[in-house]
Amino acid sequence: MQNVRRYRDFHRESIDNPEAFWRREAARIHWDTPFDSVLDRSNPPFARWFTGGRTNLCFNAVDRHLASRAQQNALVYVSTETGIERRYTYADLHAEVNRMAAVMRSLGVKRGERVLIYLPMIPEAVFAMLACARLGAIHSVVFGGFAAPSLAARIDDARPVLLVSADAGARGGKVIDYTPLVDEAMARAEHAPPHVLLIDRQLAPERFSAPYLVHYEPLRAQFHDAQVPCEWLESNAPSYILYTSGTTGKPKGVQRDVGGYAVALAASMEYIFGGRAGDTMFTASDIGWVVGHSYIIYAPLLAGMTTVMYEGTPLRPDGGIWWRLVEQHRINLMFTAPTAIRVLKKQDPALLRAADLSSLRTLFLAGEPLDEPTATWISDALGKPVVDNYWQTETGWPMLAIQGGVEALPQKPGSPGVPCYGYDLVLRDEHTGEPCASGTKGVITLGYPLPPGCMQTVWGDDARFVKTYWESVPGQQVYSTFDWGVQDKNGYVTILGRTDDVINVAGHRLGTREIEEAISSHASVAEVAVVGVNDAVKGQAALAFVVLRDASAAADPKAADRLAAAIATTVDRQLGAIGRPARVHFVSMLPKTRSGKLLRRAIAALAEGREPGDLPTIEDASALQQIRETVQAARKE
Ligand code: PRX
Repeated sequence: MQNVRRYRDFHRESIDNPEAFWRREAARIHWDTPFDSVLDRSNPPFARWFTGGRTNLCFNAVDRHLASRAQQNALVYVSTETGIERRYTYADLHAEVNRMAAVMRSLGVKRGERVLIYLPMIPEAVFAMLACARLGAIHSVVFGGFAAPSLAARIDDARPVLLVSADAGARGGKVIDYTPLVDEAMARAEHAPPHVLLIDRQLAPERFSAPYLVHYEPLRAQFHDAQVPCEWLESNAPSYILYTSGTTGKPKGVQRDVGGYAVALAASMEYIFGGRAGDTMFTASDIGWVVGHSYIIYAPLLAGMTTVMYEGTPLRPDGGIWWRLVEQHRINLMFTAPTAIRVLKKQDPALLRAADLSSLRTLFLAGEPLDEPTATWISDALGKPVVDNYWQTETGWPMLAIQGGVEALPQKPGSPGVPCYGYDLVLRDEHTGEPCASGTKGVITLGYPLPPGCMQTVWGDDARFVKTYWESVPGQQVYSTFDWGVQDKNGYVTILGRTDDVINVAGHRLGTREIEEAISSHASVAEVAVVGVNDAVKGQAALAFVVLRDASAAADPKAADRLAAAIATTVDRQLGAIGRPARVHFVSMLPKTRSGKLLRRAIAALAEGREPGDLPTIEDASALQQIRETVQAARKE
């Protein structure tokens, strides 16, 4: 029975009476032991959902479906990089997860311990995550594009007992050798785990052998018929850690629970995504990101759907590949980031029309602002509704969307829609902390408690969780999203960018401080400021303004180009290619306040060709003039 609910009442009840609301939703998953209470609010801003209840994510995602859909595909894997295509029924998935869990157990992985997963988009990544869930171990997936120092920093923060990796990833026809990255990270990390479990794809030209290396294949054979029981975990036990960028250089480990996450995802599948058991969903993202965790893996499997996992780009072998996948696999729901659509917009629309898209119901887009022209283009080209949804690594599932499974409210162009049930979303004045009038720009905040599925804390650092997220709005203990928005009188919110120094490049969230730290490690660099500027395809691009120790090093254009390239390579090595600035500009000083604070917003304004407005506290206005001239010169080029 769809659409008999009214959005407004539904949302209202979720805020006024979260206990009753979420008690009903909790029936969507299997509880080995029923919970004692729906919500424990004794220690704000921490919230504990379904306390005393025992459950297991892997059981709910896999085992529970064996009775009714053992022979239905659970996972369809397509790699246009290697030409490999595989299908796993729920029975196959169950067997593979049991093998992986037995292998992990033989390597000492136990309940509560961490396993770091540094893998490309291969089925073993899904098996490894679900195997951790089965064992009650905590997975932390690190995006395969991250460089060795970033991987080492995550190892030292999570202190895993095992690292799972592969010989190589592949992107756009290029093999990315993981072995040297893993070896370097293992050498750098103070808390390196004793073993690295290697999934050998036979892609890397050579293989190194290190004392910690354990090959997966022979162990998988050894444990071929293994049955590993699910560990029943208290609902609030951690399920995973996912690192994300903030304003400091140190990544934050977003920690999530078990029961609340399962319930929230299962509910979102119906109310927001309109997914039903037996449907096929294709989420084109990466398992290293939150969208991959929630909507490639957990939510579709919790709902008894088939999930399509894709390794490759939307452009190879040609721009029609995704639409052919829709046709071949009768995909019902698709989910990706606006960047991917902006890339596809340049392709011949005939490629799109050539495919039979009759199975497709809706395309979901998230991760960065969806501009109107892109939304209109893709929805016209597909002849299907396009649903923007707004959320963060921290929340795990959408905060804003048109919730078609609740009430099919009309779309508003440029807005991801209205607050999702469970979220007490309020726009607040940045100075007073008071709610803003409709039509006025404010910080998007969430009231206590955050709904199920949201982050519990920062891994190992409760104080940082409280300080970062709950103490940044004056006079209020509310959660800050660090996004600006404006809400109209009908409740629709439009996102206006970040309030902090986080930028969004092609849907990837990056802290400008992280990039600055990487650049600063180059010997010639004295000082640097990194800002985000608008980019037609990627949404934003990073620009670096560098002050050199010795300005003569960039005196002639050739030397400057060489140095800029060397600095970009340093970022590749420290952070990975996604952090690489689009341009490195050399200046002799950076605009600062008299107290020495970098005037980032002013630099960002100039970099986008806007005037920064009045800056009464500036130390030396000529620094601003230099940035202006540098940017103008680059434009002319
Ligand atoms: O700034 C918002 C932007 O991406 C940030 C979260 O990025 P991440 O943690 O990688 O999680 C992505 C989950 C989809 C947000 O703080 N953002 C996300 N979705 C949208 C968005 N900006 C505008 N519109 C969106 N739909």
